[in-house]
Amino acid sequence: METLILSGNETSKKIRAEIAGRIKETGIVPSLAVVLVGSDPASAVYVRNKEKACEKTGIRAINHHLPDDTDAATLRNLLMGLDSDPSVDGILLQLPLPAHLDEKDFLPLISAEKDVDGFHPINQGKLLTGEDALFSCTPNGVIQILKHFGVEISGKHAVVLGRSNIVGKPMMSLLLRENATVTVCHSKTADLEKHVATADILIVALGKRGIVKSSWIRPETVVVDVGIHRLDDGSVAGDLEQSELMGRVKALTPVPGGVGPMTITMLLHNTLKAAEKNRQ
Ligand code: GUN
Repeated sequence: METLILSGNETSKKIRAEIAGRIKETGIVPSLAVVLVGSDPASAVYVRNKEKACEKTGIRAINHHLPDDTDAATLRNLLMGLDSDPSVDGILLQLPLPAHLDEKDFLPLISAEKDVDGFHPINQGKLLTGEDALFSCTPNGVIQILKHFGVEISGKHAVVLGRSNIVGKPMMSLLLRENATVTVCHSKTADLEKHVATADILIVALGKRGIVKSSWIRPETVVVDVGIHRLDDGSVAGDLEQSELMGRVKALTPVPGGVGPMTITMLLHNTLKAAEKNRQ
């Protein structure tokens, strides 16, 4: 069986070109404050990629890189200042924070209108109730890949593995919006194999490798692998054993080059959306 490769790179290219075109057309230059606390190497790479993507698209990234030992008051003052600054359209607080800072104390300082990550309870709530809002970037990126490749969602059984606030839960809401029938599985789900085997669309966002066996997945399934792991040999892999699925399932998002680039693309999308609303 030929497996359709659901390329996030290809989907990203199209959407980023649309965003850049819209910025040129409207003359609105969105501004995104990017706040990074500490020197976690993975976070530094993510942030650099986000800033580069902003520049390429015509979004102004305002970088605030703070040292590891930043105290709570300093971070609080910075976020409050950015939130009340009308020239800032979006604020991204890169997670995780250093251990002495609890994200629960700081994320609420970013108002829903500037919450380009889609983490704010108002944005999550509006997503759930079917209103327009800033949606969580990774799950919205998954929907955009499926649409780009013409994967039918309406009426299909989508099985989501993982129930995080950032991926699993908003993924459930977005799939429901697209009229899928949704099952959400998690670490306490009994008989995971049975649920996996009934999926028309399988979204794997467990953050762990080796849990889902390739043999559980039916050939008719469209598979989305949200995981990203750096292996001992330096290579990058998803939650699934991709080589076992290639040629065995209907469609698959590759890792790398699948969901990963879409997270940044939807951040750009949200920043433009916030800016257009902010300038009305
Ligand atoms: N850390 C890892 N992924 C993300 C993300 O999408 N947004 C933020 N703010 N932090 C992250």
